[in-house]
Amino acid sequence: MGYVQEQLFPGGGRTRRRPRGSSTEKPIAFETATVELPVEALWNRVFTISPLVIVGSKEPDGTYDLAPKNMAMPLGWRDRYCFVCTPRHATYRNVERHRAFTVSFPHHFQIVQTGLAASGRDADNSKPGLAALPTFPARVVDGVLVHGCYLFLECELDRIVGGFDDAALIVGRIVSASARREAIRDPDRDDAEVLRHLPPLAYASPGRFAAVDETLSFPFPATFRR
Ligand SMILES: Cc1cc2nc3c(=O)[nH]c(=O)nc-3n(C[C@H](O)[C@H](O)[C@H](O)COP(=O)(O)O)c2cc1C
Repeated sequence: MGYVQEQLFPGGGRTRRRPRGSSTEKPIAFETATVELPVEALWNRVFTISPLVIVGSKEPDGTYDLAPKNMAMPLGWRDRYCFVCTPRHATYRNVERHRAFTVSFPHHFQIVQTGLAASGRDADNSKPGLAALPTFPARVVDGVLVHGCYLFLECELDRIVGGFDDAALIVGRIVSASARREAIRDPDRDDAEVLRHLPPLAYASPGRFAAVDETLSFPFPATFRR
């Protein structure tokens, strides 16, 4: 019986053989070998990379809550920022009521404090873990930002888009933004150097994190237009 040699990784050394005619498909030069994943457990079975930010919101008693969010990103290219939240979290209810939130972008060395913002609440509904996160007042919205972070957003609530099972998308309009001077791109400094000096924090979901200090220029095609 003849065999079709399938190269699993172009240029790589791993090859596999299967009997000729064992598939109805035409012989192919390359094959991506996959394992089917149950959709319900999908995000626990593979790693995906996202940012990790700290969302601030105002509690009904006038104090401020902080909570880490990895499902967060700019929405478009201008003044919207969004994150995924559930109505089970105080953050959701605070933002819905107060119609504002803040976003602080922590460094990798602030990972312990960032995690503590997800700690449980006491019987009186306070979150003692927040004592590890010193804050300062936001400039425009009624909120707080976390000391030592490198980028800060202040948002007014644009809309909450619910209906994704237990999840909702909270969209804010950025009304103020600021950053540590060293984190701002500068025509006189190599972008790679800016990132090496103050590496952004990446969340490798589920349950890992990294400081992104080694970066390369993206190979945009010459015909690329956004
Ligand atoms: C690393 C990490 C990332 C998280 N990302 C999200 C997220 O994207 N969306 C979300 O709703 N909850 C997320 N959470 C969970 C909440 O932020 C957390 O349960 C928080 O304590 C809720 O606090 P709150 O009830 O005061 O809002 C995350 C927790 C951790 C530890």
